[in-house]
Amino acid sequence: MAPPVSCFLFVVLFSASCKVITSLDKNCTEKEANKTYNCENLGLRGIPDTLPNTTEVLEFGFNFLPTIQVTTFSRLIDLIFLDLTRCQINWVHEDTFQSHHQLNTIVLTGNPLIFMAETSLNGPTSLKHLFLIQTGLSNLQFIPVHNLENLESLYLGSNHISSIRLPVNFPTQNLKVLDFQNNAIHYLSSQDVNSLKQATNLSLNCNGNDIKDIEPGAFRSKVFQSLKFGGTFDLSVILKGLQNSTTQSLWLGTYEDTDEQDLTSAMLAGLCDMSVESINLQKHHFSNLSSTTFQCFTRLQELDLTETHLRELPSGIEGMNSLKKLVLNVNKFDQLCQINAASFPSLTDLHIKGNLQKLDLGVGCLEKLENLQRLDLSHSNIEASDCCNLPLKNLFHLQYLNLSYNMPIGLQSEAFQECPKLQLLDLAFTHLHVNALQRPFQNLSRLQALNLSHCLLNTNNQHLLEGLLDLRYLNLQGNRFQDGSILKTNLLQPVGSLEILILSSCELLSLDQEAFHSLGKMRHIDLSHNSLTGNSIGALSHLKGTYLNLAANSICIIPAHLLPILSQQSTINLSHNPLDCTCSNIHFITWYKENLQKLEGSEETVCANPPFLTGVKLSEVKLSCGMTAVGIFFLVIFVFLLTILLIFSVKFLLRWKYQHI
Ligand SMILES: *[C@@H]1O[C@H](CO)[C@@H](O)[C@H](O)[C@H]1NC(C)=O
Ligand SMILES: *[C@@H]1O[C@H](CO)[C@@H](O)[C@H](O)[C@H]1NC(C)=O
Ligand SMILES: *[C@@H]1O[C@H](CO)[C@@H](O)[C@H](O)[C@H]1NC(C)=O
Ligand SMILES: *[C@@H]1O[C@H](CO)[C@@H](O)[C@H](O)[C@H]1NC(C)=O
Ligand SMILES: *[C@@H]1O[C@H](CO)[C@@H](O)[C@H](O)[C@H]1NC(C)=O
Ligand SMILES: *[C@@H]1O[C@H](CO)[C@@H](O)[C@H](O)[C@H]1NC(C)=O
Ligand SMILES: *[C@@H]1O[C@H](CO)[C@@H](O)[C@H](O)[C@H]1NC(C)=O
Ligand SMILES: *[C@@H]1O[C@H](CO)[C@@H](O)[C@H](O)[C@H]1NC(C)=O
Ligand SMILES: *[C@@H]1O[C@H](CO)[C@@H](O)[C@H](O)[C@H]1NC(C)=O
Ligand SMILES: *[C@@H]1O[C@H](CO)[C@@H](O)[C@H](O)[C@H]1NC(C)=O
Repeated sequence: MAPPVSCFLFVVLFSASCKVITSLDKNCTEKEANKTYNCENLGLRGIPDTLPNTTEVLEFGFNFLPTIQVTTFSRLIDLIFLDLTRCQINWVHEDTFQSHHQLNTIVLTGNPLIFMAETSLNGPTSLKHLFLIQTGLSNLQFIPVHNLENLESLYLGSNHISSIRLPVNFPTQNLKVLDFQNNAIHYLSSQDVNSLKQATNLSLNCNGNDIKDIEPGAFRSKVFQSLKFGGTFDLSVILKGLQNSTTQSLWLGTYEDTDEQDLTSAMLAGLCDMSVESINLQKHHFSNLSSTTFQCFTRLQELDLTETHLRELPSGIEGMNSLKKLVLNVNKFDQLCQINAASFPSLTDLHIKGNLQKLDLGVGCLEKLENLQRLDLSHSNIEASDCCNLPLKNLFHLQYLNLSYNMPIGLQSEAFQECPKLQLLDLAFTHLHVNALQRPFQNLSRLQALNLSHCLLNTNNQHLLEGLLDLRYLNLQGNRFQDGSILKTNLLQPVGSLEILILSSCELLSLDQEAFHSLGKMRHIDLSHNSLTGNSIGALSHLKGTYLNLAANSICIIPAHLLPILSQQSTINLSHNPLDCTCSNIHFITWYKENLQKLEGSEETVCANPPFLTGVKLSEVKLSCGMTAVGIFFLVIFVFLLTILLIFSVKFLLRWKYQHI
């Protein structure tokens, strides 16, 4: 009749975790103590008393403030940013912001403004950004101009404005952004444009205005940072208006739902009479595309022809020696040579992303692009049995190559010999065929980042990563390893310079204790979303100061001898593991509470076992294992009584024995 040992186990749940009961009085969310608050959509009719006077950033949209006046925000004199989106504001009274000297941004978007007092914006001496989008404005005289000397951006989109002409007394000297998107501006005259003459380096947005005409030369001798006239039916009227003007970028794209005339070389002729560095013509159709279409593009540095329904670029385009960046995304090429790359010999950036046809890379189609540094061919339905030396022929200066999200690609040894200066290679989500013993990345001694996530790699090929002498970042997410295990000899051996390794969602069950022994420089290792157990931590014993993500694995118990390995790392994520909160794991639980500052995701780091502790945060579990003082007291009494009983029974036995002699 030995006392059951379990009697001495007292498991005490210390603090019951009950969620804070949300009451009906809704409070603003604090984003930064005493400074940044979000009070959006709380049905408020005024500034709540709970907001501190020191509030600097206030997001107050979607409440109800039909009038705002001097008393409304008078307490919050430190305001810097105030968002009043859709508060049903009709009236902005005198001196509403009179004591808000630091206020720099006011957002009045989506308020049906009826009246703004002449002095309503007085006070903020450095008001820089004013949003009056969707406020029902039809006349720019409505905006109180007092105190706007420092205004840098004025957003007037989605109103009923019919002219960009600012009132004569409107201070434009610091204006950098003037946004008239989606208004009713159909005509621009020289006088309209002259009203902006003090603004230098202005970005003027007139997208979505259905502009029918601009006075020819209205923009002459003006200099802009950017001009946007997207969604215009006839581009030639725009270009006539822009004669003899200068702009860094010109956005002339169109939209799905806009009628537009097909572009001809005659319509684009106006580009010859202005100075522009970068043009966007997205979503237009070209009619009778030929080399003459491009005759006025010769001084361009950037050209964006995204989704312009191109099947090829004409041969014989001449003089485009200045072009550095060409964007041909979402077109219909079926062979890379159809872009006639030789016409753009100075290109450094080429983007052919999201091609709508299956794209054949061909042979040497880009070989004239000796200066090419960045090439994006992602999402372009590329299929190639033997990539990439023939297609990338002569791209000696290429640094960035994106081949992600394509169809199956086969790589042989030294598949990137032609571009030895590659620094970043993205092959994510492209199924790679690499035969055993092949070394596709040999010669990429400058490559720093390699994304091989979801490539269905053959991870048994121990030579796969050979030659990557300077690799810092490797993403192997979503690739599988044989038997769910990374063995002692594995494909990671050649990449000793790795600093960041992603092995999440690789269906890993175990790691050999020496799986990572060649990786001494690691700073960040992500092993989340696998099925690893606590014992796998042994494989990290040589790492120090790393970020370690072990979230969403199968870790129940972490044995005491592995805890020093965790202690020497900088940040650890153990969330979403089926952790055991019984005394068999007491060493780990004690360690956990002592090292909370190292752990991230502790809200989601909860017990899975025993059942009565399921879902309780590990940081809040209180276990007491081994004997308590009370237990020891009873044990002593018990042993004492047992001894007395024994002595008596011996005595009794002896006496009985003698009596029967
Ligand atoms: C709102 O704040 C007050 C005062 O700080 C506090 O007493 C109350 O519990 C809070 N309400 C909610 C729902 O958080
Ligand atoms: C916020 O303000 C309160 C009261 O003025 C002060 O005690 C607290 O230290 C402040 N907190 C921060 C983070 O500034
Ligand atoms: C906040 O400002 C109001 C009005 O200026 C003042 O009455 C109040 O005492 C201030 N509150 C604090 C905590 O400073
Ligand atoms: C013009 O504005 C752009 C961005 O708006 C800025 O990057 C550029 O430096 C400015 N140029 C001058 C000369 O102020
Ligand atoms: C543009 O400049 C040229 C040459 O300076 C001049 O001949 C022409 O008249 C100007 N056009 C307009 C519309 O200002
Ligand atoms: C198409 O362009 C060619 C060459 O510029 C020209 O000869 C031809 O007349 C144009 N056809 C139409 C219909 O505009
Ligand atoms: C490569 O392209 C994909 C898809 O367009 C994109 O998500 C990814 O960020 C790109 N990779 C890099 C390194 O920019
Ligand atoms: C590529 O690397 C291999 C092995 O390091 C070397 O023998 C070969 O000459 C290199 N090729 C080029 C083109 O650099
Ligand atoms: C591949 O990794 C690089 C480097 O972190 C990243 O920029 C890129 O977005 C990743 N590619 C995809 C398709 O997510
Ligand atoms: C912990 O890792 C999981 C899985 O990667 C991630 O979703 C979560 O955001 C991380 N927690 C924190 C606090 O970063």
